[in-house]
Amino acid sequence: MRAKNVVVSVWLLVLLVTMTGLSYAAVTTYHLDKKYLPTGCASCHMGFDFSNGGGAYKCITCHGPASARPRSLLFRQTQTKDVSKDFTKNYRHPVFDKRNIHSARETLPETNPAIPRHADCADCHSAHYVSSDNPFAGIRGKKTGNLTAPITKEYELCYLCHAESANLPVKSTNKRMEFSINNPSFHPVEGEGKNLAVISLLRPYREKKVDANDISVIKCGDCHGSEDPNSPRGPHGSKYQGLLVENFATGDNVLESSYAYALCYRCHKRSSIMGNESFPAHSRHIAGERNFKGGGTSCHTCHTSHGSVESRYLIRFNREYVTESSAGKLKFVEKGTYSFHGECWLTCHGVDHNPKTY
Ligand code: HEC
Ligand code: HEC
Ligand code: HEC
Ligand code: HEC
Ligand code: HEC
Ligand code: HEC
Ligand code: HEC
Repeated sequence: MRAKNVVVSVWLLVLLVTMTGLSYAAVTTYHLDKKYLPTGCASCHMGFDFSNGGGAYKCITCHGPASARPRSLLFRQTQTKDVSKDFTKNYRHPVFDKRNIHSARETLPETNPAIPRHADCADCHSAHYVSSDNPFAGIRGKKTGNLTAPITKEYELCYLCHAESANLPVKSTNKRMEFSINNPSFHPVEGEGKNLAVISLLRPYREKKVDANDISVIKCGDCHGSEDPNSPRGPHGSKYQGLLVENFATGDNVLESSYAYALCYRCHKRSSIMGNESFPAHSRHIAGERNFKGGGTSCHTCHTSHGSVESRYLIRFNREYVTESSAGKLKFVEKGTYSFHGECWLTCHGVDHNPKTY
């Protein structure tokens, strides 16, 4: 099988090298530019297994440590980014853990629940087309009817495996549904948010873009990626759970600190949240002055990080700690608009909110 692949790939290579001028003359991309890869197609296609996209080890020969880069390929780029370290961290895309599953013929989102989950370099980067203009160029987007829209936005890439996939893990949710701009609330990834009074926001983040420097739309990559600011961009791996750029404690009985909720405090001012500028009982719950001896409860107990299909303010109670009120209700009801008044129906730490109002 393997020997046959090598024979096939050598033939393909001979054929393709002769066709190169024709097929690729119009595009100038990093990998097809002799300035970057003087050895051309052969840099990758020598002994290449076409059945599974060549594998991540092909890519890592050049995108690994500088000392390990192949001189045989006349490959001289010293600035080329080393992504290998992020893939050794605890929370990472399973590129090196689930090998040889990618197939050039697969279409994503996956429609067969029996196909194992995977993410190869070739699933997220199209080696022939990747350029500084569009890092996602060449990746086939979601099929609608007979059309496959090209990918220009990062979230469209993520949705290929984290939205409608038939093989989504049981505990995972459809991210496209969470981030839909038709929801009552969502972090503004697909477009600007609905809330006009997010008073905790730190500049340059802002509800709507007014000044040129304002940022009102964020990316998956603003929260997911390496914790090391010197690492290459991309959600390759992180030492923090959830593959997050900063620490985010999601449990109960947590001591509040700038570290515990560092992810949120990157964009939401800690002193505003803990100073109860919006929800008057924020600090009581987060620091746990009264009811919790060992600390307080995480933002995650009341807020989803992505989007809520039923409530405003990203409210979604964590069922691990929160249950129905004595009347059997579990919900948040806003009173007025941006008035910072509302009511909660739930039970937490044995405290019945049936409802409790603020
Ligand atoms: C940086 C590495 C790299 C270079 C350089 C490169 N390729 Fe590829 N090529 C790949 C990868 C990776 C795939 C598999 C993509 C997949 O399976 O999703 C591939 C697939 C192919 C295929 C199979 C069909 C397809 O498009 O998926 C052909 C044909 C091909 N390459 C031709 C070439 C030619 C001709 C050149 C030189 C102009 C070239 N490649 C340069 C990495 C490279
Ligand atoms: C022979 C060496 C070599 C191989 C093999 C190789 N690359 Fe590259 N890659 C480069 C060079 C050189 C650049 C140009 C930019 C640079 O030097 O940082 C580049 C650029 C990139 C970029 C864009 C980086 C940016 O700064 O925007 C991505 C993404 C990338 N490669 C992914 C891959 C993937 C995925 C594979 C495997 C299919 C692969 N590369 C295989 C040498 C290589
Ligand atoms: C080709 C498929 C694929 C694509 C595209 C993809 N992922 Fe993943 N992702 C996976 C797989 C497989 C896992 C391992 C867990 C699983 O099966 O969901 C994973 C895991 C994750 C995790 C960690 C989950 C955890 O429980 O720790 C995060 C966060 C994540 N991906 C974010 C992203 C983001 C952001 C993007 C877009 C930039 C993206 N993914 C694109 C396949 C993909
Ligand atoms: C504001 C920060 C933020 C943004 C933006 C964000 N995430 Fe997350 N994401 C989190 C946090 C925090 C967690 C871990 C806790 C949780 O599950 O809510 C998480 C968990 C995940 C997980 C693992 C859990 C699961 O449900 O499968 C995946 C996958 C994921 N995010 C994908 C994405 C994708 C795709 C995007 C962009 C479309 C995105 N995230 C945007 C903060 C964010
Ligand atoms: C789940 C999807 C995913 C996988 C798997 C993945 N990448 Fe990336 N990668 C990204 C995204 C998203 C970016 C950021 C693009 C941007 O915003 O510029 C990125 C960026 C990069 C960059 C440019 C970094 C920079 O700072 O300019 C390189 C190089 C790269 N990836 C190489 C690889 C290699 C090699 C592999 C396999 C070992 C790989 N990636 C696997 C999604 C992925
Ligand atoms: C006990 C539940 C609960 C916990 C825990 C909680 N929140 Fe809230 N939060 C709320 C409620 C309720 C609102 C809506 C207040 C209103 O406007 O009526 C809110 C509003 C917000 C808002 C929007 C208004 C603003 O202040 O800008 C942000 C941002 C926010 N919370 C962030 C956080 C962060 C960050 C944490 C963790 C450090 C956290 N919350 C913990 C219940 C909670
Ligand atoms: C990269 C910046 C960024 C990070 C990190 C971030 N947020 Fe936000 N958040 C925003 C922006 C921008 C808005 C404004 C959206 C709007 O106007 O509707 C927002 C809005 C909110 C809202 C109000 C949403 C609404 O519709 O009422 C809540 C609640 C919130 N964030 C909680 C959190 C929590 C909890 C975390 C940590 C898990 C977090 N944020 C991390 C940028 C961020």
